[in-house]
Amino acid sequence: MSALRSHLWHASGGLVYHWRALRYRRRLWQPFAAQVARWLADWQPAQEELVIVGPSAGYTLDAGFLARFARVTILEPDPIARSLLRRRFAGIHFEKGRVDCFSGMDGPRALSQAYPRAAILFANSIGQQLERLDPGWPAALQAALQGHSWASYHDVTATAQAPRQNAAAQCFASGASLEEVLAGFWPGGELVLHDHGSFGVLPAQAYAIWSITPQQHHLVEWSSITVVGPSSIMPGNSGISGRS
Ligand SMILES: C[S@@+](CC[C@H](N)C(=O)[O-])C[C@H]1O[C@@H](n2cnc3c(N)ncnc32)[C@H](O)[C@@H]1O
Repeated sequence: MSALRSHLWHASGGLVYHWRALRYRRRLWQPFAAQVARWLADWQPAQEELVIVGPSAGYTLDAGFLARFARVTILEPDPIARSLLRRRFAGIHFEKGRVDCFSGMDGPRALSQAYPRAAILFANSIGQQLERLDPGWPAALQAALQGHSWASYHDVTATAQAPRQNAAAQCFASGASLEEVLAGFWPGGELVLHDHGSFGVLPAQAYAIWSITPQQHHLVEWSSITVVGPSSIMPGNSGISGRS
């Protein structure tokens, strides 16, 4: 098993991320955090144990969601994030886990074997990792997590171009292209973007915008699977009221 090593610098985390959170979390990040809270409220795994992959300091997590679980394990390499997370959610006991599920093709199986009874939440951690992982990793993840409830919100694209104002989360017909999804959030015209390669690689239910800074806007995808019994799996819903 590949062990998770602590580090302070990561393209998607670390000190720069905490500085941005300090600056933008209360206002600019608030609509996205509220949308994540709605997605998480609709995701109702039967498991009492939760593993969070990449929680950082939980800037997009809420105490009500965390309190639903009797045991919460975090897989987070950033020691500052772990310490801030414990301070921000003082009522939750977080256990530090040691599996690096992004270490390679064996990572998903190691994750499932280490936490066989847990629901697993990827907290905006998959998008940044996919670019350097084997293209077969998402399929390996879904195979390894059969029997688990799991959910992920992950970056799909990033761009400096501002989306429509107050663009609410949306769901799209299955088979919708990335261009169709982007057109739902950005006005027409050419869009210069960074593509994480994560579009549609997991079963997607909905999309939302996360403006990380006033100049950087991410399209985020929500995927969830809920296992309600030994042989009963429910794809998640969109977490958008009035839509399925
Ligand atoms: C974009 S941030 C997550 C945002 C966070 N969920 C929030 O609510 O603010 C991505 C996180 O993934 C973490 N990360 C990086 N490599 C990881 C790994 N191998 N396993 C788990 N988490 C990892 C980073 O340290 C960072 O905290």
